[in-house]
Amino acid sequence: MEIKITKTSTPKAKPTGKLGFGKVFTDHMFMMNYTEGKGWHDARIVPYEKITLDPSAMVFHYGQEMFEGLKAYMGADGKARLFRPDMNAKRTNATNKRLCIPQLPEEDFVEAVRAVVEVDKDWIPTEDGTSLYIRPFIIATDEFLGVAPSKTYLFIIILSPSGAYYESGLAPVGIWIEDDYVRAVKGGIGFAKTGGNYAASLAAQVKAHDDGYSQVLWLDGVERKYIEEVGAMNIFFKIDGKIITPMLSGSILPGITRDSVLQLCRNWGLEVEERKISVDELITAQKEGRLEECFGTGTAAVISPVGKLRYKDDVMLINNNEIGEISQKLYDTITGIQWGKIEDENKWTLLV
Ligand code: PLP
Ligand code: COI
Repeated sequence: MEIKITKTSTPKAKPTGKLGFGKVFTDHMFMMNYTEGKGWHDARIVPYEKITLDPSAMVFHYGQEMFEGLKAYMGADGKARLFRPDMNAKRTNATNKRLCIPQLPEEDFVEAVRAVVEVDKDWIPTEDGTSLYIRPFIIATDEFLGVAPSKTYLFIIILSPSGAYYESGLAPVGIWIEDDYVRAVKGGIGFAKTGGNYAASLAAQVKAHDDGYSQVLWLDGVERKYIEEVGAMNIFFKIDGKIITPMLSGSILPGITRDSVLQLCRNWGLEVEERKISVDELITAQKEGRLEECFGTGTAAVISPVGKLRYKDDVMLINNNEIGEISQKLYDTITGIQWGKIEDENKWTLLV
């Protein structure tokens, strides 16, 4: 893939002070078009700017779109690294397949990410816990109001220097187990990274926020009994010394951090289970003092300890609302690999 690069003549000032999440954007973005019969074409890096679309563009009406999320990290050695971008490329195609968006060659996805990060490398923040959040996305652009797969698409990558996803940083968060709304069902689009899943999550999120909780933990959409995942992360529990996470059932996102955590825990010799886990099992384990830790995993959230889980009238306090031993070790190991401070035995990072 050949990428035409046009650099901005008016670079913006870099942010100063504490970085939030996803509010500031860099000087450049990657763009590429898809046209039926021609394939993906016109790969280019251009100055960051607004895009113009016809009001009839299909993405606005039926939500045919996908997105990804990964990060670039500036290492202590001055080298910029990406974390498992090949996994994002694979997940892009899994999402695309479900949404009738054309496949994107995995090597082109990775090269597009690498190239745009290289152009805006001096935007990768260096303060502790910060990184350059990368948001690739594809939208359907046909000017047509019929319900059908679009014949044209736009693939864009934007970059955002970011700090912690939760304002509380690594301090444990409170999570609301939702007992009314559901997010996804098997056979639907729960495993795909697409806007509709997030639009469907907002009503419950607002309710949880109003009650002082950071995010929603979803239950399965059929029996409303089994734990699925959190709004922007997968979920893990440590019960009786075992690391337990819901299995990939088709209705939850196959998280890349989830996969990394499973591999690390297995390498450390911990007992790991990917299986169905019911909210009743959790409540019982908590009452009997066997629910030792709970944490969420995600690109934006990294490892996010959960100190409190609410389900109807039950409020479960976990590990005294403190960071657990495994959560801390996972956070230190994963961020250590990402920042080039720990040897990357699994070959997870790619130098930019
Ligand atoms: N689940 C949902 C719904 C998410 O939005 C995310 C974030 O990407 C995750 C899980 C975690 O996935 P990953 O570790 O690949 O970032
Ligand atoms: C990510 O962690 O990359 C995500 O996509 C979460 C996002 C919904 C903020």
